[in-house]
Amino acid sequence: MAGIKDVVKDFYTVDDALGFDEQTTKDMQHRHLNKTRTILGDCKFFVKADGARLTDGSGNTHYDFIGAVGVCSVGNNNPFIWEQLEKVYKAKQQMIGVVAYHSLASAFAHDMAVLSPGGQLTKMGTATGGAEAIEAAIKLVKLASRKKEGKTRILSCVNAFHGKTTGAVSVGGKEFWRMYQHPLMEMVDWVPFGDAAALEEALKKGEYMAFFVEPIQGEGGIVVPPAGYLTKVRELCDKYGAIMVADEIQCGCGRSGKLWVCDYEGVIPDVLVYAKGFSGGMIPAGGYICKEDVYEAAYGSEETCWQHTATYQENSLGAAAGLATLQYLYENKLIEAAAEKGEYFMGKLREVQGRYPGIIKEVRGMGLMIGLETCEVPDRFKEGYSDYFADPINNELIDTFRVQVMHTINNPAVFRFLPPLTVSLEDIGYVLKSFEQCVKEAYERVNA
Ligand SMILES: Cc1ncc(COP(=O)(O)O)c(C=O)c1O
Repeated sequence: MAGIKDVVKDFYTVDDALGFDEQTTKDMQHRHLNKTRTILGDCKFFVKADGARLTDGSGNTHYDFIGAVGVCSVGNNNPFIWEQLEKVYKAKQQMIGVVAYHSLASAFAHDMAVLSPGGQLTKMGTATGGAEAIEAAIKLVKLASRKKEGKTRILSCVNAFHGKTTGAVSVGGKEFWRMYQHPLMEMVDWVPFGDAAALEEALKKGEYMAFFVEPIQGEGGIVVPPAGYLTKVRELCDKYGAIMVADEIQCGCGRSGKLWVCDYEGVIPDVLVYAKGFSGGMIPAGGYICKEDVYEAAYGSEETCWQHTATYQENSLGAAAGLATLQYLYENKLIEAAAEKGEYFMGKLREVQGRYPGIIKEVRGMGLMIGLETCEVPDRFKEGYSDYFADPINNELIDTFRVQVMHTINNPAVFRFLPPLTVSLEDIGYVLKSFEQCVKEAYERVNA
């Protein structure tokens, strides 16, 4: 048999790729992937990822406090997840097939139904990521509402983020992500997040088929709505006949200290969108779970049952990653751990905030979804420094202290910590010390 390199000169195999050094990888990534984003994003070259720690090409340890933006809920390269995936490989079942029965996908849909708010979201639609899951939810509510007279529009929230595909930016609440994609799905309006009175004012018009809401806004700046807001959203959606769609792509999967943020208020949305954490930190996966009546109204007829299919739907590896993640979260009590560690971490962050006034405006979040809203830099210091303290603190954490963190993309004043729920108190302690150093430096710079 001819080797691939005899057939295609310059072909790189998996073995080659796993052995690439830093420079080769950089050159290739710049040439063939998005060079500008790679450079502006200050990408690092990591050779190992284990739990909440990463190792770079020079052998330095980095602390993963962003977890691929909430993806690594069970940590990087969790051995239990890999073991479950290996079992799937060894079983040699059919992995993907549009017209076939799927044991793993059925089990995942079952378990998600059992664990869904109130155990009532018993139907699942699968996707390969967050934005695709949102697209599926948009289509679901459109089909489910097609016979409801006058329900022609969708309501969403100012500053919401639901992904970057065309439908997802249409329901997103930031023009910046929409501006090059017009004409969009021009049937969306926005109300301020957390404002039940504004929501009622809008829903009263009777024209909204659905309200899309993140129970905690992620990219909008880790914004926790006032207590009782989700309950009120539920009441108002019922009152005015709108489908309540909760996007828990970033805040779900146990990160908040409950499996779903909706569980804090016992709220049962009609549709709940998930992704990120359910990947087990490695397999692109996402989807929605919803009430049976919504699903049946959309896809329960011969006329419509084929309207939403996708080649990779209900794929076995994605389902296995989701199953393994749930098992690991519950067996290791990681959801309770997220609540406890989050409370401790936020308490200590607030102490730092108090020691250096004028730098950190607010420490907020739930569990291990933590946002740091920073103050605006006084005008006379802005030049050559930054508009908000978020920037220099974020950059210093990453480059000097080797702590991986990230801005929220709809709010430049905020950066966040989304560590794996497995993170140790020792690593939290290290990050607290590093954070204090960065805040102290910023404080001294503007108070010299
Ligand atoms: C709340 C929310 N919805 C949707 C998305 C889009 O997910 P993806 O990046 O997998 O498309 C994100 C991503 O950050 C998100 O935070």
